[in-house]
Amino acid sequence: MSEQKVLYLEKPQGAFVVSKAPILKPGPGQLSVKVKASALNPVECLIQDYGVIVEHYPAILGNDVAGDVEEIGEGVEGFVKGDKVFFQGYSGDLGGYQQYCLIPADIVAKIPSNIDYAQAASLPVGFGTSAVGLLSAEPTGAGLNPTFDLKVNHAGEPALVVGGSSSVGQYAIQIFRLLGYSTIIAYASARHTDFLKSLGATHVIDRGETALGNLAEAVKKITTAPLKIAYNAIGDAECRSACVDSIVVGGQVVDVNPFEAKDPGNGKKVFGIFGSVHNPANKKFGDIIRRTLPKLLQDGAIVPNRVEKLSDGLAGVDVGLKRMRAKQVSGVKLVVFPQETA
Ligand SMILES: NC(=O)c1ccc[n+]([C@@H]2O[C@H](COP(=O)([O-])OP(=O)(O)OC[C@H]3O[C@@H](n4cnc5c(N)ncnc54)[C@H](OP(=O)(O)O)[C@@H]3O)[C@@H](O)[C@H]2O)c1
Repeated sequence: MSEQKVLYLEKPQGAFVVSKAPILKPGPGQLSVKVKASALNPVECLIQDYGVIVEHYPAILGNDVAGDVEEIGEGVEGFVKGDKVFFQGYSGDLGGYQQYCLIPADIVAKIPSNIDYAQAASLPVGFGTSAVGLLSAEPTGAGLNPTFDLKVNHAGEPALVVGGSSSVGQYAIQIFRLLGYSTIIAYASARHTDFLKSLGATHVIDRGETALGNLAEAVKKITTAPLKIAYNAIGDAECRSACVDSIVVGGQVVDVNPFEAKDPGNGKKVFGIFGSVHNPANKKFGDIIRRTLPKLLQDGAIVPNRVEKLSDGLAGVDVGLKRMRAKQVSGVKLVVFPQETA
């Protein structure tokens, strides 16, 4: 059996170590994919620091994956060897921090010709988390557009994204633009203003100048229309309170922290969301995303995150996660290239 390089998280709260492992054959319904690019996610810091979420060690992480179809499992249709694909990985055999991973074919999308592997790897988790949270029906999301019908239009309405420059926030802004929202307010560092406006934000409130405690007031100065929807792309309590204060009674906050987000009990709703399409509750909407997203990308209606390419193949993951912990990642997605592993 041929071998590949993998990145193991050795044990709970242990170190990342580049190692060797067999290349696995795809089972029925699966593809084997040669991983060309894998993007980093903040949850990996939590997994390493606290030993949460992952149960089996040594573990292979990596939830944002792009690569080439290598081998096709029994019963899979619609793919040929060499197809360029992207998808949400999962820990273990399905993790993106290895040179060849397995994946159920029914969550895999094809990369359109106008984006590269690194850009494609920036999409699955970030776009999925924004889309599931905003569009899918209750209880998984706010139900703005459960069939992802591009004719649905929210013209005249305002929306707020706290953490607009984060990976997830950039996609939330673009989804609001796609839905036709007239006023899209992003809360982010001022240096990202032009970029976030290019994605669809109509206003950027500088988080260096306006404290979260004053955000609701700042939003009211921009729009008098009732704010019925806010997206908390950061997930901490202070950002959540600012979102809740900004929306009207009957409005909704979509929050990326499913462990702490709770209804405030004042007639306003807070959804804590899981963006994973491996979660059975998101399977159906995940399939809608898989079928809709490639064309949106090809048409330029959704653009990938800006990416920063890390060196040293899989060893780059450790370096990138250290930068995330130090809050040195701003407005870009960090990406590694497993085939470049020494
Ligand atoms: N529930 C789920 O399924 C799910 C899925 C994916 C991600 N998440 C969570 O979503 C959050 C965002 O993930 P990500 O990958 O998008 O993160 P990211 O891109 O690494 O986030 C970095 C960005 O956050 C911004 N930021 C940090 N604190 C802020 C604050 N108080 N107000 C406004 N902006 C702030 C920074 O803005 P500046 O540029 O201004 O410094 C920076 O651009 C993380 O907590 C992650 O764990 C949850």
